[in-house]
Amino acid sequence: MVNFWDDQEIESKFSTATVEKQVSLEHSAEALQKRASNVDPVRAEDKRVVNGATDINQLAPFKYPWAWNYFLNANKNHWTPLDVNMTQDIQDYQHKLTPAEKHVYENVLSYLTTSDILAMRNIGLAVMEKMSAPELQIYQARQVYEEALHTWTYQHCIESLGLDQGEIYNRYRVVPQIHHKIQIANRRLDAVLRPDMDLSKKDELETFIHSYFFFAAIFEGSWFYNGFSPIFALQRRGLMKGTGEQFQYIMRDEVMHASFGMNVVKHILAENDVQLDMKEIRNIWDEAESAEADYAKYLLPEPILGYSQQDHIEQFRFVANRRARQIALEEPFPGAKCALPWLDEQSNVRKEKNFFETRVTEYQTGGSLSWDD
Ligand SMILES: [Fe+2]
Ligand SMILES: [Fe+2]
Repeated sequence: MVNFWDDQEIESKFSTATVEKQVSLEHSAEALQKRASNVDPVRAEDKRVVNGATDINQLAPFKYPWAWNYFLNANKNHWTPLDVNMTQDIQDYQHKLTPAEKHVYENVLSYLTTSDILAMRNIGLAVMEKMSAPELQIYQARQVYEEALHTWTYQHCIESLGLDQGEIYNRYRVVPQIHHKIQIANRRLDAVLRPDMDLSKKDELETFIHSYFFFAAIFEGSWFYNGFSPIFALQRRGLMKGTGEQFQYIMRDEVMHASFGMNVVKHILAENDVQLDMKEIRNIWDEAESAEADYAKYLLPEPILGYSQQDHIEQFRFVANRRARQIALEEPFPGAKCALPWLDEQSNVRKEKNFFETRVTEYQTGGSLSWDD
C-alpha cells in the first residue's frame, strides 16, 4: 500500500518501476490502424500513449490502469481555498512578519500564481490533446482543474491579505529572476503548443518528450515542489498557517502531477523508437539550477529565521536528484544534501498530526487505494 502523495514513497515505488521496450511489428502504426478500422471492441494492447489508433472514447479495457488510479487518488485530495481559515494569516502578515519575510511571502505567491496558469495551459492545451488513451486524458483533465484550483488558492490568499493584485500579478514581468523562470517554461510550452505538431515524426516526438520531461521533473517536480518550502518554513514557526495549510494540499497534487508526467514519458519511450537526449537533459538541469539560484538570491538576499538562499538551492538539487531517480536517470547533482529534513514529514499526512493544529490529517476522503503500476 503506497501513500500516494508521499513524495518519498512515490520515489521508491517509481524508481523500481521500469517499463519494457514495446516497439514491435505488432504495434506498428500500420497494424494498429488496420485493427482500428473494424468495429470490434478496443483491445488494451492496441492502445498507445501517443499516436494510437484505437477509439479514444472507449475507456476500458485499460492499458494504463495506473493512470486511472491517479485519477481516483487525486479525487481524495479535494478541497477549496474557502475551507481554510485565513484570519490568523491577516494578523501575522500585518503585525508579525518582518519586511524580509513579507518580501519572501509576496514573491513566492507571485511566482507560483503565474506558474500555475502556465501549468494549466500546458496540460490542457498542449499535452492532453496529444494523448491517445482516455485513461490518460481523464487524469490530465483533473490536473487542469487542479491547476485552476491552485490559481484560485493564490488569489484567495492575495485577496485575504489585501495585497495589491495588479502589482503582485505583474511581478513576473518586472522582476528578472521570476521572469527568467517563466521565460524558460514558456519556451518549452511554445515548442509543443502547435496544432500542426505531428508526433508520428521522430523529431517532433522527441521535442514533445523533452518538453513534458521538463514540465514534470523540473517545473512541477522541482521548481514547484521547492517553491512552497519558504512558506512551510514560516508555518513551522507558527506563522501564516492558513497559507501553509493551503500549500500542503497543493503540494500533494503537484507530487502526483510530477510522477504522472514522468510515468507518461517512460511509457512513450517504451512504446516508440525514441530516447532522451542526455546532453539536452543535462542542459535542462543546468539551466533550471542556474535560474533557481538567481531566484533564491532575489527571494532571500539575507536569510529569514530558519531558511536561507543556500537552503533553497541545495534543496532544489536534492529534489532534482529524486526526480532523476524516478525516471531511472543519473542524479544530476551527486552528493546534494537534504537541506530541509523536516519537509517530507511536513507533507506526509500520516505523521503531521502533532505538528500542525489544522485538520489536514482528517481531510483525506474515501478509503486508501493502492498503487498498481
Ligand atoms: Fe499547480
Ligand atoms: Fe501541477
